[in-house]
Amino acid sequence: MQSTLPNASAPKARRRSGPAARVRQVVLGLVLIGALFGYFVWHMINTPRAVKLVAGQWVEDTGAYAGVAACRECHREIVEKQQASSHANTLRALKDGGPRAPFDSTEVIDPLTGARYRMDAQPEPSIAMTLGGQGAKLPVEFEFGSGKIARGYLSRLDDFRWLDGRLNHYAGTNQWDFTSGQEKPNKFLETSPLGRTHEGAGAVRCFACHTTVLKVNGLGDGPSNGAKLKVRPDKSVLGIHCESCHGPQLDHVKERRAVKPVKPRVRLTADEMNAVCGRCHGLTNVSPEHPVISRFQPWGLSVSRCYNASEGKLSCATCHDPHEDAKSDITHYNLKCISCHSGKPESIGKTICRVNRTSGCVGCHMANDSTSMLHTTLTDHRIRIPGKEAR
Ligand code: HEC
Ligand code: HEC
Ligand code: HEC
Ligand code: HEC
Ligand code: HEC
Ligand code: HEC
Ligand code: HEC
Repeated sequence: MQSTLPNASAPKARRRSGPAARVRQVVLGLVLIGALFGYFVWHMINTPRAVKLVAGQWVEDTGAYAGVAACRECHREIVEKQQASSHANTLRALKDGGPRAPFDSTEVIDPLTGARYRMDAQPEPSIAMTLGGQGAKLPVEFEFGSGKIARGYLSRLDDFRWLDGRLNHYAGTNQWDFTSGQEKPNKFLETSPLGRTHEGAGAVRCFACHTTVLKVNGLGDGPSNGAKLKVRPDKSVLGIHCESCHGPQLDHVKERRAVKPVKPRVRLTADEMNAVCGRCHGLTNVSPEHPVISRFQPWGLSVSRCYNASEGKLSCATCHDPHEDAKSDITHYNLKCISCHSGKPESIGKTICRVNRTSGCVGCHMANDSTSMLHTTLTDHRIRIPGKEAR
């Protein structure tokens, strides 16, 4: 069949082998190589890299992460309860299903300026404000907070700047109100009326405490202070899952799958646990005279006498299952106190309460604090005799 067809390609082939065509081929080749090289460089710069904070600087996190799905294979029960916890649900992109708080356009009015704020659902989830005849509106992209206490919103302004919207939704009142720390009129609202602007470094920190793996663009060879990092939430693992606390576990998964000999169980010491939780829960050096430290539980605990006099027997895990939300039944915690302050010879605490030795321990010795955040009561983790500083 083929032989009957005119050989159409023959003259063309001859034309291609002329000198002009040779030059064209070489140029085309060079352009292709250049494009490939350009793409390679572009790819290098644009490939988001995982980062972690070490001594106040962002460095590459080269850990090999396995992801929650892998853990389910062998730790099903823990995975199920952990995935239902506030930790796991503390951050979401609104493009994945929209906000969980009601964006119903109810207005919150700044009593001093008269500015009216609201969250609109249409045409897309946005924060809006009006003052006099003027107004501003900006789509919101990320919802922070499981909703147990509050929900807050970030909008991207440009590569390095994000807006922390001035409205939060509070579980305590089931209403919108100003974000804690932005309730009073502030200088920054004059130029940024919709809320506080976070430059690169601040925004990176927001995401770091609410993600398991955080990826960014713009990390050079050395450590970075964060100012020139572009957060890539789209490439990050949002929410706090297993490897937030346990670190990268791909090696563990591989080892266990290969059924290597089981290593002896290593338990964290109370100090080590404070450091793990304190990465996000604030293990800061607050002055002991500071009246309100309820947002820094690891610090509060670490200056309590119970903690320092019990030789490492008291840690976050004494009272909390790290894979679940805090239990709301106060009896659970009182029983922990009594386990150490029973008056029995074998108990770790040698003293017993002169006021009440059977109940109400937490209410008197771990004060409620409603001054740290709007519409929220937190628990002071500095266990102490009411009115007395911890020793
Ligand atoms: C193929 C099964 C398997 C998979 C997958 C697996 N594990 Fe494990 N894991 C085990 C076994 C078995 C133990 C018991 C203690 C040991 O052997 O270290 C364990 C123990 C642990 C411990 C206790 C550590 C210690 O020192 O005892 C942690 C924490 C842990 N796994 C986390 C994870 C996380 C996080 C994932 C998912 C990224 C994961 N595991 C995936 C089988 C697995
Ligand atoms: C990666 C940051 C991070 C780490 C590490 C971390 N937490 Fe949290 N934790 C959070 C955030 C964020 C929330 C708020 C969750 C929400 O949106 O409601 C939270 C909430 C909690 C709550 C309240 C849960 C509830 O709703 O009842 C407890 C209790 C808690 N954490 C204990 C711990 C303990 C104990 C550790 C260490 C074993 C720890 N956390 C480690 C960030 C972290
Ligand atoms: C150092 C870690 C850290 C940083 C940085 C951080 N958060 Fe959080 N965030 C937490 C922890 C821990 C909680 C849990 C409640 C608590 O102890 O205050 C929380 C809770 C929240 C909540 C829910 C309210 C609540 O208490 O449950 C919102 C909303 C939130 N953060 C938004 C943000 C935003 C927006 C930023 C950046 C402007 C940010 N966070 C920066 C650690 C952090
Ligand atoms: C908020 C921090 C945190 C998160 C998130 C977390 N863990 Fe843990 N996990 C701990 C701490 C703390 C311990 C106790 C360690 C100790 O006693 O040394 C622990 C213990 C364990 C153990 C040992 C067995 C046990 O029950 O004590 C396994 C297995 C484990 N975690 C798996 C997981 C898996 C799987 C996930 C994700 C679904 C996960 N963890 C998420 C903090 C966390
Ligand atoms: C792991 C053991 C342990 C647990 C759990 C524990 N304590 Fe203690 N606590 C101690 C020890 C040890 C001391 C030092 C005095 C002593 O030996 O009784 C102490 C001291 C105290 C003091 C005296 C503080 C001071 O500054 O003089 C108070 C009050 C107290 N505990 C209350 C509580 C309450 C309330 C709880 C529960 C929320 C609790 N403890 C849980 C071990 C513990
Ligand atoms: C002696 C017991 C005890 C220990 C130890 C303890 N907590 Fe708590 N924690 C409580 C109690 C009680 C509550 C309040 C529970 C409630 O009413 O819902 C609480 C609540 C919390 C909350 C929710 C917000 C709040 O303030 O109510 C966080 C977050 C938290 N604890 C973190 C930690 C961390 C991190 C550690 C370790 C540094 C720790 N806790 C150690 C007893 C304890
Ligand atoms: C109504 C408030 C209240 C309740 C409830 C309460 N305490 Fe106390 N507790 C106090 C006061 C006040 C003191 C200091 C009294 C004194 O020694 O003069 C104290 C002292 C203590 C001390 C130090 C004792 C010493 O001799 O140094 C311990 C330990 C203690 N309480 C533990 C507990 C435990 C555990 C519970 C729960 C079973 C509890 N308390 C319930 C108010 C209370």
